[in-house]
This record gives sequence, structure tokens and C-alpha cells, in this order.
Amino acid sequence: MNKTLIILSLLAATSYTQAGEVEVLHWWTSGGEAKSAAVLKSKVEEQGHSWKDFAVAGGGGESAMTVLKTRAVSGNPPSAAQIKGHDIQEWGNLGFLTSLDDVAKAEKWENNLPGVVTKVMKHEGRFVAVPVNVHRVNWLWANPEVLKAAGVSVPKTMDEFFASAEKIKAAGYIPLAHGGQPWQDATVFEAVALDVLGSADYNKAFVDLDMDVLQGSKMVEVFEKFQKIRDYIDSNSPGRDWNAATSMVINGDAAMQIMGDWAKGEFAAAGKMPGKDYICAPSPGTDGQFTFNIDSFAFFKLKNAENEKAQKALAKTILTKDFQEVFNLNKGSIPVRLDMDMTKFDSCALDSMATFKSSADSGDLVPSMAHGLSTTSYVQGAIYDVVTDFFNDPSAKADEAVKKLAKAVKAAI
Ligand code: BGC
Repeated sequence: MNKTLIILSLLAATSYTQAGEVEVLHWWTSGGEAKSAAVLKSKVEEQGHSWKDFAVAGGGGESAMTVLKTRAVSGNPPSAAQIKGHDIQEWGNLGFLTSLDDVAKAEKWENNLPGVVTKVMKHEGRFVAVPVNVHRVNWLWANPEVLKAAGVSVPKTMDEFFASAEKIKAAGYIPLAHGGQPWQDATVFEAVALDVLGSADYNKAFVDLDMDVLQGSKMVEVFEKFQKIRDYIDSNSPGRDWNAATSMVINGDAAMQIMGDWAKGEFAAAGKMPGKDYICAPSPGTDGQFTFNIDSFAFFKLKNAENEKAQKALAKTILTKDFQEVFNLNKGSIPVRLDMDMTKFDSCALDSMATFKSSADSGDLVPSMAHGLSTTSYVQGAIYDVVTDFFNDPSAKADEAVKKLAKAVKAAI
């Protein structure tokens, strides 16, 4: 063998021993989401590893979590799975997750991430999950042409919302694009709750699970306003996916959608520009408040050493500046690192970043209940049930709903 051949075969052997496979479970299947997931895939593949996609469709991730449980229980978990908030602790307590402290130390994660985020990513003091982004949930997306045709401007309060919705309906458009699925109902519900309760009582209700707030008079008002929203959605909403609802705003069939900023990923994937083709504004009455939803991947214990290397490479990649930029530009979220250059980001993202920071100081940064950041999946599920049953029953009574809410939460604690 000549010298070049020896070097080549040595190189081949090295890359062979370093190459492993990462199997990644996620629920990013809409247009904007799939584009974002593809960024991660290509960054992992660039390093010589292979990516096994484990996508389970279903916004909000309920189906993905069910599938994950089955796989993990049968002793065959993926390398990483999109798991958020309190669920990370649950998986950690069950002994499934692996420590990423070596990567965290080498990459100085502690220095570049907000404390509120690192706390969620650790189990018993060790990093077991990696944050991908920060999504703001309390957004209103609007089509300016439709608003103009109806002679209204972007509503800043719930009263303005109802007044505008009435005019939009009269002008022949659907005021609010909505998908009737429990997690979407809960997303709208928590936006109304943030406005009516205010940040402090929102936290008391959905983080502290304070029974007085859960069944108090303000919560009755939350349900009343939430119920009124039904008058402004179309009859085809049951079962509709969230991205189909976003398309209705993009196409001008509907005026508005209340949804987290993954909706922006859909506008971006459709080539739409903020401020021109669509408007992003805080959901009515929540200016200065920020409901956060942090996507993260939790990492499972594996048996194969090559796959472990690939897994560590994935963990490291997620928090690189390069990945944070491209991924979040596609996803609609903002980077989770605090030291990013934001020049490529649009006005909605800059707004989100500014409010993320200011709300942390003013006490208006609150975790999303609907997206699993404020409480356990058991309590979240109990709230979903009450909220969805209520929304789907035209004769439901708000004062009875709050009693059901308190009872359901109590039983799930
Ligand atoms: C996730 C987002 C996702 C959205 C819709 C949320 O719970 O955090 O990443 O885009 O669900 O699927």
C-alpha cells in the first residue's frame, strides 16, 4: 500500500468509528416545522452521523408522547426526544435519561443560557436535556387586507377583539381561524386567562394550582370570554390542524389566529413578510406579558458507544450559534442563547426578544400551561379536558366550569 492509500484508509477507519446514528423523536411535521427539523438533521449529517427521523404528527405533541412511552417501556428509546418542562423531570425520575454534563461543561452552556431555562433542563443537578428555542405563545396573527376590508385595526383588548370580530363577520370573513383540538383550545384559553387574571394570578392558577384562583370569580370571567370566542370561529373548526388554521389567515379566508409563534414559521415558509403580508401582535390585553414555551430535547441512555457519540454531537450542535440562528429563523421562535447576533431576525422576533427580557424583570414572564411548561402532564391533561368539554358545549355554564376545573386539578395533583 502506498502512503496516500494508508492515510486514506486510516481516515476512513476514523470516520467509521466516529459515525453513529441518532434517532430523534419530534412532532415537527408542518411546513415551517419540517424545514426547521431539516436544519438539525443536516447539521448532524455534516458531522458524519446518520439521522433516523422519528416524526409523530400532531401539534402540541400529545401523540408523540404516547408513542414515546410505548417505545421507552419496551426498552428501545430513541437517542433524543422532544420533551418539555416538567416531563423532563418525570423521565429523569424513571431513570431513562443520560447526563450531558461533559458537553455542557465543554460548551459553557451555563454561561450562555438564562437560569430559568437551565433549571428545567437539569435533573438532580445534571443536564439531561438541551433547549432549542424560546417560543412566545400569546400572539395574535392577522391578515391586514382582511382587517382593512372590515374597517378594523388590530385589537389591543378583548373588548376591541369582540367588536372587531363582529365587523369582520359582517364583512363576510371568518374572524378567528381555529382548530378544534384540545391543545389549541387550551392555547386560546390561556391567552384569555393571561389577560383577565394578570400574570400573578395566572401563575397562582397554573403553576401553584391555587384552588381559590382556579375557582374564583376572575376565572369565571375567563370562561365567559373564552366561550364568547366560539361565536367567531367557523363550523368546520373541529379537528382542524393548527397549520391549516394559519393557512386560512395566509389565504385571507380568516382575519386572525391566536397561536404561538410557530405560526410565523408557516407564514415564512409561504414566503410572507411580517408587517406587510401579516401582522404579529400580542394576544388581546397581554402587551408586555410573555407566555413562554421552550422546546427541548431530552437524551436517553443508550447501549451503543458509536450512537452515544452521535448523541453527544447532536446535543452540542443544538446550542451552537450557527444552528440557533438558522433553526429559529425557520421555526418562528427566538434563540435560547443570550449572546446571539439578532440582525437577521424580523420585527416579530425582535419584539419577542425584547418582551422576553422586559417581562422577566416585570414579573410578566409566565410558563405556558397549554404547552407543558407550567405544570405536570397530568394536571395539564385535566385542564385540557375541562376546557375542551366546555368549549364544545354551547350550553355550558362558566360558573360550573370553574368548579369542574378545581376538582379536576385537585384529582390530578
Ligand atoms: C411546540 C412547537 C410546535 C407546536 C405545534 C408546541 O407545543 O412547542 O415546537 O411547533 O407545538 O406543533
